[in-house]
Amino acid sequence: MNRQPLRLLLSAVPVPALSAGEIHLWLVDLDQPPKPLSELAATLTRDEQERAARFRFPEHQARFIAGRGLLRELLGAYLDRPAVTLRFGQGSHGKPYLAGEDAAGLHFNLAHSGHRALYAVARREVGVDLEKMDRQVDDPAIIDRICGLREQAAFQIIPQEQRHNAFFACWTRKEAIAKALGSGFSCGLQTLDVCFWKGEQTQVRDPAGREWGVVNLPLDHGWAGALAAAGADWRYRFLLGFTESCRLSFHASCLFAD
Ligand SMILES: CC(C)(COP(=O)(O)OP(=O)(O)OC[C@H]1O[C@@H](n2cnc3c(N)ncnc32)[C@H](O)[C@@H]1OP(=O)(O)O)[C@@H](O)C(=O)NCCC(=O)NCCS
Repeated sequence: MNRQPLRLLLSAVPVPALSAGEIHLWLVDLDQPPKPLSELAATLTRDEQERAARFRFPEHQARFIAGRGLLRELLGAYLDRPAVTLRFGQGSHGKPYLAGEDAAGLHFNLAHSGHRALYAVARREVGVDLEKMDRQVDDPAIIDRICGLREQAAFQIIPQEQRHNAFFACWTRKEAIAKALGSGFSCGLQTLDVCFWKGEQTQVRDPAGREWGVVNLPLDHGWAGALAAAGADWRYRFLLGFTESCRLSFHASCLFAD
């Protein structure tokens, strides 16, 4: 993964225009060297710095600073505004959004796991999830808790050796939709019927009848991720940091190729 600070990448090549039907994805490394880390720390608000200070372990503190600082850099680049001037609000379940008129219809969401963060930027409600698949999960017990009866039955017929991957694929889809909705786990994950299909983007309806598209992302071995967004008329585009097969090098023509 490219460990160059995002700031350098963004200053070298401006972010591409974001059309209504596109979602841009950025996967970054949160373990930043000390100098860029201190520069990123300087863009955080006092609240954010206080939140960082509450982390018990320096590694977690540094990753929070990098994650929030890079988010500011990234959104600042889309809005053509200094990172330090951005203001965030929070939905009733904690979903962050750009506050004020400066948001200019820009939506975003992020997820972090281990040393990585995944950002999605869009012109519609969006949610992402990212999971390092290094945990032993008690699949059957969790599946019963988060899946509806139809999904539980489908899980039973998946061969044992495929269950770990199937679980994370399913889990990340559910969490991405829950985060797009903004409700997080409180939406009742059992009601989101997304488990155990494979392949391209699919549509689901939330309990209120709204349509959402959701898709698993092709990440490196050992990682799972998913993207969800309102409606069906969108496609995603990798901008930075993806797997060898999808990875786009730091090169303008690649970064912004269709
Ligand atoms: C949102 C949630 C699913 C995140 O799960 P997670 O696996 O721990 O973390 P992830 O890495 O996937 O995502 C974390 C990021 O999601 C974003 N986020 C937080 N709450 C969110 C929400 N409700 N919807 C969408 N995104 C949210 C934040 O940017 C957060 O990163 P940050 O804290 O560094 O800013 C989970 O924390 C949740 O369900 N929260 C809701 C809790 C709730 O209902 N609270 C009620 C308060 S009244």
